[in-house]
Order: sequence, then C-alpha cells, then structure tokens
Amino acid sequence: MKSKLLILLLSLTNLLASAQQAKKNGELWYDTDSKLINAHGGGILKFNDIYYFYGEFKGMGKDGNLAKDGVSCYSSKDLLNWKNEGLVLKIIPDTISMLQPGCILERPKVIYNAKNKNFIMWFHHELKDKGYSAALTGLAVSESPNGPFKYIHSIRPHKNVWPKNLADEFKKPLDYPVVVRAKNQELWKQKVLEGMLVRRDFESGQMARDMTLFVDDDGKAYHVASSEDNQTLHVALLNDDYTGFTDEYYRILEGQANEAPAFFKSKGKYYLIASGTTGWKPNPGRSFVAKNIYGPWENLGNPVIGKKEDVATTYHSQSTYIIPHPKKKGEFIYLGDRWTPENAAEGKLIWLPLRLEDKKPILFWEDSLDKVVK
Ligand code: GAL
Repeated sequence: MKSKLLILLLSLTNLLASAQQAKKNGELWYDTDSKLINAHGGGILKFNDIYYFYGEFKGMGKDGNLAKDGVSCYSSKDLLNWKNEGLVLKIIPDTISMLQPGCILERPKVIYNAKNKNFIMWFHHELKDKGYSAALTGLAVSESPNGPFKYIHSIRPHKNVWPKNLADEFKKPLDYPVVVRAKNQELWKQKVLEGMLVRRDFESGQMARDMTLFVDDDGKAYHVASSEDNQTLHVALLNDDYTGFTDEYYRILEGQANEAPAFFKSKGKYYLIASGTTGWKPNPGRSFVAKNIYGPWENLGNPVIGKKEDVATTYHSQSTYIIPHPKKKGEFIYLGDRWTPENAAEGKLIWLPLRLEDKKPILFWEDSLDKVVK
C-alpha cells in the first residue's frame, strides 16, 4: 500500500514537473528546478553546443524594474529545458558603486571573444535615482560563460568622436540652443536629422539606451544602441577584445525612434527587427534590411501578419534578440518580452518563429515553445 502511494506521488510530481517544462508563449516559464525563469531583455550565446540565456533578473512588485540582483543566466542543450546558472553579474551592495542596488540594468548581451577566450557582456545602465538620464553602456567580463562576470565600468561612448556619416558641415560642437521638440516639432525633426543631438553630446559622449550586440561572420563585433534621445540608432564597431569602442560608428535610421534592436544575417544581408518607443507598452514591430550594417537600411515594414491586435502589438511583445534556428536552416527564432511593470519578474518571454518570405522577415505566432524550437 505504502509503495503504491509512493509511486502515485512520484508520478504526480513527474506530471507536475513536465507540465512546468511544457512552455507556452504567453505563460510563465520554469527552469529545471521548477523555479520561475527570471531573465528579461535577454540574449542567447551558443558556446560549445550549449545555449546560455542571459537576462535582467527582475524584482516582484512595482519597483521590480530597478536592479537589485543583477544578470541571471540559464543554460540549455535544446532551448527548451533551462538550468539556472545563477546570477552571473551581481549588483554591488555599495553606495559608491555605479552598479549599486536601485540602478537600472537592462538588455544585457554576451558575446564570446575568441582572441582572449573570454566572455564579454554589455548592457544598458542607468544610475540610481536618475531615471533614464545617464544613458550609459556597461561592460563586464568573465572567463567562463556562466560567470562570474566582473563589472568593469559604464560609459557614454565616443567622447569627442564624430559619426563617420555625419555631414562634414555639422562636425562641430553645437553653435545654437537645442531646439525643443514641444516648441517647434518640424524644426526639431530637421535638426535631429542633421545631427543636433550628436553635436550636443559630442564632448560628454553619446547616449546609449536600448542596446544589442552583433558578431559578424568575420569576427567583428558591433554595439548598437538607441542614442540621441532615442531618435537614432548608433552602430559602433568594438575593438578586437570587444571590451571597448573604436572610433568607427555610424548613425542609422536617423530620427526614426527605433528601440529594442535585434539583428540577424541571412544570405549575406543584415536584417534588423526593432520597436517604436512606447516604454513598457508594446507597439507595432519594424523590420529593415541592408547590405552593409552601417546602412543604408531599407524599411520592410511590420514583420507581423495576422490579427489587427497582433500587428499593432507584435503579439504583445518587444524584441530583444534573434538566433538562428537550431534545426531549420535559414530560419530564426525571435526572442521578445511581454513586459508587466506592475510586477516585473512575471513578464512573459515570447519566443516565436521568424522566417524570410519574399525576402521580408515574417514573425509567426506559435503557442508551444516545443514547436518553435523543433
Ligand atoms: C522600453 C525599453 C525597455 C525599457 C523601457 C522603460 O522602451 O525597450 O528596455 O527601457 O522602455 O520604459
């Protein structure tokens, strides 16, 4: 009798565990210990046939978007079952640290540097009690994919360096007062396109908010961030160590207010998926293609086809990363976030099939993660 009960109990536990493993888009996902997967604005690095998923470890409740813990990491062989590797970059419990509790740490991305055999993390960093005004990019380095990452510093890139594609006539510090958007929308737009905000920030360094990293086939790594009050993306070449910026950077899609950039490459072309700027609320997705990562970029429109609500909200998600599909050659997996600022830790992960159809990226809905990755 006792052993029958035990078997029943065991199979019930197994059932519960497998129910928790069966991940569905729009539901909470659990790791191999049946604990909530807490990694947002994340990215995936594949290293030695293991996937490492890094993201923001969010808190519960209204302040959950403020960083108290750091960057979490999960590992997996199949993109489906994720083992918790713990916090790989920890918030520093010291009020003189820039990385102190209460700062904002968003969209961490990790890439592998083959030259130095180390792992390089960059992330969007805002200072405690300063809202989103600092607009810094933070750097942390580790010898192992599952950490610990050592925090190096946070910077505004390209102090006293002009973007390569800014017209020569504007390569001088701003010689007129910044045009205020609310006062003259048209003039403001024209001046933003001409590089007014780059010129404003020339000496202090350029703003870096929503960001991603992209490593090209030739090993060159690019840091791409929403800059210039989120109006323009800056595509910047990192140095050979991936730990610093070179002087090579370009403004792309000037004045188009793209956030949440995520790249992939297919048949020699670069594709970019991005969002508009509506904070935690979702908006229509955007897609672009280019022969050169520095542009010109062609607008390919909203990658979502389907119901009005899905088109308007990118299936209630905002892009964060794209990986090549592990099994379906030429296809991709889109990683997005369904933010829940009222309780940030419970934001949903939305991972969907992404394909090129008629040379245009198309994002499909699929309930089951199992079907997305297989
Ligand atoms: C979003 C951005 C998020 C976060 C949020 C804050 O637009 O993509 O990473 O910064 O705004 O409101």
